[in-house]
Amino acid sequence: YLDGCTDILSELDDKYVLSLRLNRPKARNALRTQLLHELAQTLGKANRDEHVRCVVLTGGEKVFAAGADITEMADKTPVDVLNDPRADHWAAIRTFNKPLIGAVNGFCLGGGNELAMHCDILIAGKNAQFGQPEINLGIIPGAGGTQRLTQMIGKSKAMRMVLAAQFMSAEDAEKAGLVAEVCEPELTYDKAYALACVIASKPPVAARLAKESVLKASDALLAEGLAFERKAFGTLFATEDKAEGVAAFMEKRKPVFKGR
Ligand code: HXC
Repeated sequence: YLDGCTDILSELDDKYVLSLRLNRPKARNALRTQLLHELAQTLGKANRDEHVRCVVLTGGEKVFAAGADITEMADKTPVDVLNDPRADHWAAIRTFNKPLIGAVNGFCLGGGNELAMHCDILIAGKNAQFGQPEINLGIIPGAGGTQRLTQMIGKSKAMRMVLAAQFMSAEDAEKAGLVAEVCEPELTYDKAYALACVIASKPPVAARLAKESVLKASDALLAEGLAFERKAFGTLFATEDKAEGVAAFMEKRKPVFKGR
């Protein structure tokens, strides 16, 4: 759909549905900056294209997305985080104004889960696992995870995920309200696509304003929290524990945290 992309595969069909697939299988669809840039550009084009009425976003069979690319985070300082173009890419995803349906199989972690929560409706395979394991790296979610998760599943369950890095199964995610529907993993994309076709058959201007209106139920509360989270996320890039957490991941060992 958009020329020159490698990290995002895309296809627009005659049902007005644009299908997007995250395409870094070797790195478990880790959201490197290039991937986020491609996604932001693609959604930007789709926003202006009347041939797109609904978008389906999916990942791999075993991993939707493993989060931010940890190798890219290794040398970042708080100032780098402050100046990071990633914030603009996330903003483009957040302000995409047509319905966005997520089809999630397998691990949906960190920034991957934050991306999933930017979707308007989530369909999950039974094998899906949702998590915010950033704390294992000495950091916290930085793309709205602390805010959206809390809004969607409530404080206690959100705290368990964010503080203890415990994963949530697809079944529990449905009970908690994180996902709309759980199905056999082979059917996840097809279910999401069928729903997208239904939505694409509705009047597009009403669909856009319906989405924007539903988001208003929480957006006003979100703005301050997102800004706070972003600052806190950046601050943690000055800590020894973040350097240790990231190094331990890359060296495939257990981290030792010291509170510095
Ligand atoms: C970079 C990653 C990666 C990541 C996996 N890889 N996750 N590289 N960033 N987030 C790489 C591994 O280093 C490895 O590289 C290859 O992908 C395969 O990974 P395995 O662990 O061997 O795969 P598997 O056993 O299938 O396990 C999949 C997994 C696991 C459960 C998803 O990879 C995992 O736990 N990943 C990290 C999840 C995480 O901590 N996410 C939070 C990121 S922080 P090699 O070279 O060895 O093949 C974050 C901050 C958000 O998201 C901030 C937003 C602004």
